[in-house]
Amino acid sequence: MRQIVNTASGGVEVLRVQEAPEPHPGKGEVVIEVKAAGLNFADILARQGLYPDGPKKPCVMGYEVAGSIAAVGAGVDKQFLGRSVVAMTRFLGQSESVAVAANQLFDKPEQLTFEEAAAVPVNYLTAYALLAVMGSLHAGESVLIHNAGGGVGLAAIDVAKKLGAITYGTASPGKHEFLRARGLDHPIDYRNQDWLPVLMQLTGNRGVDLVIDPIGGSHWKKSYAALRHTGRLGMFGVSTASANGLKGKLKMVKAAAQMPWFHPLGLLNKNRGVFGLNLGHMWHEPEKVASWMSAILEGVEAGWVRPHVDKVFSFDQVGDAHTYLESRKNIGKVILVP
Ligand SMILES: NC(=O)c1ccc[n+]([C@@H]2O[C@H](COP(=O)([O-])OP(=O)(O)OC[C@H]3O[C@@H](n4cnc5c(N)ncnc54)[C@H](OP(=O)(O)O)[C@@H]3O)[C@@H](O)[C@H]2O)c1
Repeated sequence: MRQIVNTASGGVEVLRVQEAPEPHPGKGEVVIEVKAAGLNFADILARQGLYPDGPKKPCVMGYEVAGSIAAVGAGVDKQFLGRSVVAMTRFLGQSESVAVAANQLFDKPEQLTFEEAAAVPVNYLTAYALLAVMGSLHAGESVLIHNAGGGVGLAAIDVAKKLGAITYGTASPGKHEFLRARGLDHPIDYRNQDWLPVLMQLTGNRGVDLVIDPIGGSHWKKSYAALRHTGRLGMFGVSTASANGLKGKLKMVKAAAQMPWFHPLGLLNKNRGVFGLNLGHMWHEPEKVASWMSAILEGVEAGWVRPHVDKVFSFDQVGDAHTYLESRKNIGKVILVP
């Protein structure tokens, strides 16, 4: 079977499609024949050598797949065979076949294509955890979604609308029309102007109840300044560091040096909260993640979860897929198919 291998850290030239032995299901596992695999920003950072959670290179990335069950291991009901499923994978998802623990599987909703189903787990679990769980967003509250046009961003709009919140979102200006059509109340161009004064003007100088920030470094300080009283800041990424080679390493050092410190008394006197989320550090809490995923899959049935696949690339075009995401062209999800 074929898989996408990160042969080293670097530009897209380090990505290769290589042959590997078929995986065999261990006890309690199934093998999924992958029809579609999600591409995430973590895959970009991993390729660049800036993702500490990634496996040692050479490695195969891939946090999520949709496909059908081709083999079952000991202790797994044979009736699973042939079932269409969606799953989180702790890497190796960008392969034609991948072994996964049977308790990590969810039935693929019938109304979704395999590509759409593969667009659900990482984006929607992240958005759901940030807004509904840790951010405790309530009806009538306001939320600022940074990179609202990205994969997590579009999912966050869906979750925020479901919760009845007023939505503000930063995005490259070419994405604003699409975002308005998706239900974003206030798109803000953050590429050609400073977004903070614009947000303050839009909110009558009050700020918002929740900000979700995947940019990191000094940007977290700025997002913190956008909170009104009882406001919360959710930090979940450092895309500001994205770059190849030495430049990326230097940008990561700069981002680390510029991260804000939050003093308890400052939080207390301003009635503010801060939290972080790393979905990749939730493998030991499968029940929690499964309960979030159930709510999300119910949302697919109910119609408020609307995974949007922007572009599908074949495994052989993986370099183009990375470039597409890195050059900010994507609106929503980028998917890889064998
Ligand atoms: N902690 C977690 O558990 C977790 C889980 C999933 C994702 N994340 C983080 O959430 C963020 C979004 O992830 P995603 O997979 O949904 O990707 P994504 O948002 O689709 O990523 C691409 C988009 O990000 C924006 N962007 C901002 N800074 C960028 C930069 N330096 N280079 C390229 N694009 C940049 C661009 O949109 P605009 O220019 O229109 O803004 C671009 O189209 C990433 O930082 C990722 O690491 C964290």
